[in-house]
Amino acid sequence: MEPPKPQTLTGKIAIVTGASRGIGAGIALDLAERGARVAITYTSNSSTALATSLVNQISSLPNHTTTSSTTPSPAIAIAIQADLTIPTSASHIITTTLSAFHTSTIDILVNNAAVSTPSPLPNITPTTYGDTFNLNVLAPILLTQAILPYLPSQKHTPRESRAGGAGGRIINISSVASRSGFNNLSLYSSSKSALEGLTRCWATELGAGGHTVNAVNIGPVQTNMLDGIDQGLVRRQVEETPADGGRIGEIRDVTPVVGWLCAEESRWVTGQVVSVSGGWRMY
Ligand SMILES: NC(=O)c1ccc[n+]([C@@H]2O[C@H](COP(=O)([O-])OP(=O)(O)OC[C@H]3O[C@@H](n4cnc5c(N)ncnc54)[C@H](OP(=O)(O)O)[C@@H]3O)[C@@H](O)[C@H]2O)c1
Repeated sequence: MEPPKPQTLTGKIAIVTGASRGIGAGIALDLAERGARVAITYTSNSSTALATSLVNQISSLPNHTTTSSTTPSPAIAIAIQADLTIPTSASHIITTTLSAFHTSTIDILVNNAAVSTPSPLPNITPTTYGDTFNLNVLAPILLTQAILPYLPSQKHTPRESRAGGAGGRIINISSVASRSGFNNLSLYSSSKSALEGLTRCWATELGAGGHTVNAVNIGPVQTNMLDGIDQGLVRRQVEETPADGGRIGEIRDVTPVVGWLCAEESRWVTGQVVSVSGGWRMY
């Protein structure tokens, strides 16, 4: 059994998009194990049972079992079904989160939901472009816009308290594809390059408020998404991965990095792209 995680996120409220399964589900559970209360989002009816099961798992974690004196008690975790390609989903996710957790602030946003649909250049159409960019790029823009009024404000805190890094945390989940020339993945790759560009500009724009914005740039990890990628490409990446003698990444390789970027101790790290790829990509 693994030892309990440090409670670096106690009292924090987090939203993790695309957290019914895969890496997003792992991130949501890890943030909750560090003390955060978490809203997870997903879109498919077929994932409702998975999302509900994760909410139940988080709600029964030992570090969350203290009872609240408020009636009805604020939630420990909630699942929000919302298609992020619909622009109104962003405000729905924010208002549902504020209400369920009885809060006026949201501390952490992990923009994780994404699609990767391989397509050679001649087959790209305005529709396939929209399918990828509306979820992988426009949705993080709209959700980050929507959360801005609710990020913990440092405006009124004295300078010495501000040094504690009590601002909000935005984490954008990127991919090694953002800086690679993978065959047939130009839409996905360029959407992740855009996300990394947004990360740097938002870090600049939001720094004065005490907020940090970073991207975590992931190599291959076994999820449903990876099943749709050319397996020859994955094998070559594994062969060229230095860490651990080369292997596919596991969700638990990624989650502690996101957890650290969400915590106050990462306050001096912003606008960065952290590659979590076993060293396959070194920036
Ligand atoms: N797996 C890898 O090897 C790898 C490598 C590099 C980077 N990444 C990045 O890591 C992140 C997670 O990837 P993953 O492999 O865990 O993906 P995944 O297993 O395919 O899960 C995708 C998640 O996104 C949600 N989603 C899909 N379309 C949505 C929409 N229109 N609106 C709202 N939510 C939607 C899904 O919800 P439903 O369950 O409801 O469909 C699911 O929760 C992505 O940003 C991906 O680009 C993954």
